[in-house]
Amino acid sequence: MKDFISMLVLTALTYVAVGAASQLAMADSANRMPVDRLPSYQAECASCHLAYPPGFLPAQSWSSIMGGLSKHYGTDASVEPKDAAEISAWLKRYAGSYKRVKEVPPENRITQSYWFQKKHRKIGVEDFAKPPVKSAANCNACHRHAEQGNFDDDDVRIPW
Ligand code: HEC
Ligand code: HEC
Repeated sequence: MKDFISMLVLTALTYVAVGAASQLAMADSANRMPVDRLPSYQAECASCHLAYPPGFLPAQSWSSIMGGLSKHYGTDASVEPKDAAEISAWLKRYAGSYKRVKEVPPENRITQSYWFQKKHRKIGVEDFAKPPVKSAANCNACHRHAEQGNFDDDDVRIPW
């Protein structure tokens, strides 16, 4: 009887653990945008390209980017100091801390990250340059629901 009960307890625990793990995996792959979206981030950082989810870069990269907005990848992306402070704090809070994202990529580019290159190894550099995409940084050219923070591989459509 004691064995039977401990088996029941074990089974129940396993269900809880597996359930929690799959929920975590889902939260991780289905939506990469924090639930508390920052209006100033959407307003200031999503006019030239999509609002990149903060979890794709480490805090140090976001801090460098926010510290150099007047010379932002060949353009001027300066924002008011009040907005800059608010955006910086928010990016820092949700920055990637997962081991693969922790490393600062070349030029603080998501697209130069090791994990990014690995996930997109089947797409050639010249393919990324094709007209409908133009740049690997245009995530939403292929990730149809990137604006919603969804980068799931089930939701990708290569436009050629
Ligand atoms: C005036 C237009 C403009 C604004 C506004 C702007 N950016 Fe950018 N951003 C660019 C350009 C251009 C690139 C380079 C894109 C490319 O290489 O295709 C870029 C690239 C980036 C990248 C690297 C993408 C990659 O290659 O992985 C990040 C991260 C980024 N921007 C963050 C921000 C943040 C944060 C803000 C708001 C404070 C912002 N951007 C506002 C024009 C802008
Ligand atoms: C030219 C099309 C294209 C562009 C542009 C692109 N991706 Fe992807 N991405 C893909 C494809 C295709 C896959 C699926 C690879 C596979 O099947 O394993 C993928 C996979 C991913 C994955 C892994 C998804 C998973 O469930 O494992 C992430 C995260 C991702 N991309 C993020 C980005 C980000 C962020 C950007 C922009 C900075 C971007 N991608 C730009 C085509 C693209």
